[in-house]
Parts: sequence; structure tokens; C-alpha cells
Amino acid sequence: MGRSPPPPLSLTPSYISNLEQTSSLGGTPSSGTYSPPPLVHWGSSLDLRSPPVSFRYSDIVSSPSCNDRALVQLYKHGILRVHGAPTDREGQWELAECFSGGGKDKREERDRSIYHSNSGPMKTLYGSTWSTSTTSTLQGASTSVADSAYTSDSLPLHTDMTYFHSPPGLQIFTMDTPAPNSGGSSVYRDGFHAALTLWEEDPQAFSILSSTNFTYRYLDEDQGWHLEASGPIIDVDTTRVNPDGKPVLKGVRHNDLDRIGFLPPLHPPSPPPEFYAEVDRALSKWDAAVHGPGRVRVHLREGEAVIVNNNRVMHARERFTLKGGERSVVGCYVSREDIESRWRYAMTTK
Ligand SMILES: [Fe+2]
Repeated sequence: MGRSPPPPLSLTPSYISNLEQTSSLGGTPSSGTYSPPPLVHWGSSLDLRSPPVSFRYSDIVSSPSCNDRALVQLYKHGILRVHGAPTDREGQWELAECFSGGGKDKREERDRSIYHSNSGPMKTLYGSTWSTSTTSTLQGASTSVADSAYTSDSLPLHTDMTYFHSPPGLQIFTMDTPAPNSGGSSVYRDGFHAALTLWEEDPQAFSILSSTNFTYRYLDEDQGWHLEASGPIIDVDTTRVNPDGKPVLKGVRHNDLDRIGFLPPLHPPSPPPEFYAEVDRALSKWDAAVHGPGRVRVHLREGEAVIVNNNRVMHARERFTLKGGERSVVGCYVSREDIESRWRYAMTTK
């Protein structure tokens, strides 16, 4: 599939001007002025239940201007809290549509058939929508459940699907049934804040984690899945630096439970023995930055959804016990291509 090729590039003043407008998203707008706001690198003071990161579900899905405001805040903070969200498949789909597909408002014309839909959730090994309850109608019979999210154990801070070459752009979690006591709270950490903390405190560790490819794997013998991908923990745009000298961050890929090893750099062909000790040291420094100050903890109520930029914000879950009750979270993913397209379109003057 393709479209007409773009006109040949030439280094005209307008072309160079467009290049200079690019942000950490990369890319050049075809027309108009692309004006993304500065990112907000947040710590533990972020209040998920207050503006500017808190929205009502019915406002986002019914108002294009509210949808655009939510897009901008999601770009800046990498996280949104949405309250009043339905917990059925339609609700997850509708929320995903607000952050995917083409940016023109065509709510009345959306076609959700499997053959024609070009917006909504990203299809993954967990289905288009998922539920941590195996009795939910959102949980398909053949979707993979070989993941620690389907247990009651605590989950350390991580990003999802590190074993994808292009991990999902967004994850949408909607609380269906909270754990019957205070267990199972959600924890979030701005990975860009953690990465810049590391850059300031230990530039050598930052350099190693942004130049070494780590490999991640997902195996599910029951369903026959074997997924693998590699990438640096901290993905840096090496072509540019911020005006303040700080690195331009493109993404964070981090999941200790799925990481299986790392690849030494190609040059020199055989890294010196101390390289491996340096990687171990860098990983422990990263662990300290991730689990240091800056985490936000929230006990989600029924109908509260949290949307995270999965290439930036890490999530975790505290352990819970059920004693006959149930805890159920439903949700879906949005592809990185879709959300980045929505951001560029929304933040380019028409
Ligand atoms: Fe996860």
C-alpha cells in the first residue's frame, strides 16, 4: 500500500525551517507550522486526579476540542487519567479511537468492521481489548495469558511489549473491579524524568544504557508465541540536543522480567572485560533512578482509566489478595504510529 511519492527534497529555506520545527517525535509537517509544547518531566507531585491531566470520559468522546486538549496533555505529560469510563469492550474501543486513526473528526462515519476500521485498539497477542479476568467477555478464548499481569503478584515498574520492535504507543488501563482492600494499587514513573536524572548524576551510565542493545523475549507455549526484539533502554535522538544541552529522548524500553541479555557494541569487535561490569553498574544506577523519588501511586476506582505513553511512562502494580473477591482491569493498546500521527496533526496549525 502506498500513496503518491512526495516531491523530491531540496534544501530550500522552507525545508530547513520545517526541519527545525521537529520535536522528539521527529518528522516534518507537510504543511502548516508544527508547534509541540515542551514536555513536562514530572515527579511524585503530579496529581492524577486534578487538571491538567484529568478528563471526563464523556467529554473526550463527545467533544473534538476536549479530545484535542487531552491529546496535548498526553503529549506533554505522557499520562492521563480519565474518569467515568465504561468497562465494556465498546468503551475501550471508543477511548482508543480518540487517540488513533486520522485526526479529522469523523465520529459519525466510523466503521468498526474488522475489514474497514482504521482506528481503535492495536491488535496484539492479547487481542484487541483485554481483561485481567479470564471470565470477562473482553478476554478471548485464544488470547495469551502467559503474563505476570494475570497473577496477583506485585509487578515492578516497566513498559509493555519490550519484545516488539515497535512497542505500543499507548496503553489504556480501565479499572473494572478494584481489589477488595487497599492492595493492587497502581504506580507510575516518568521514564524521561528518570533518564534525565541518570544523565545528570551519572553520564557514563546514561551513555551505556543509550548505546547498548538489550534483548527482550516473550514465550507462550500454550498459544505458540515466541516474540523477540532488541533496543536500548534509553533511546536518544543523537542528531539533536535540547537548547539547554540535555539529550533529546525518543523513548524508554524497560522490563526486567522480559529482558534476557544484551548485545555488546559492534565496535570494537570484542569489548574489553570491564564492559560487562560497566553495564551491570549502569543497570544498578538505572534501577536506583527508576525506583527513587518520582513515583506516583494511585488506587484506581471503578470506571477510572489511565492512559500512558508506553514509550515513556512506566507502570507497576502492588500485590493484592482476593479472599474470594476479584480484581479486574480491562484495556487495550494504541500503536505508536497512530498516536504520534494524532499528536503531529493536532499540534500543526492548519
Ligand atoms: Fe504492563
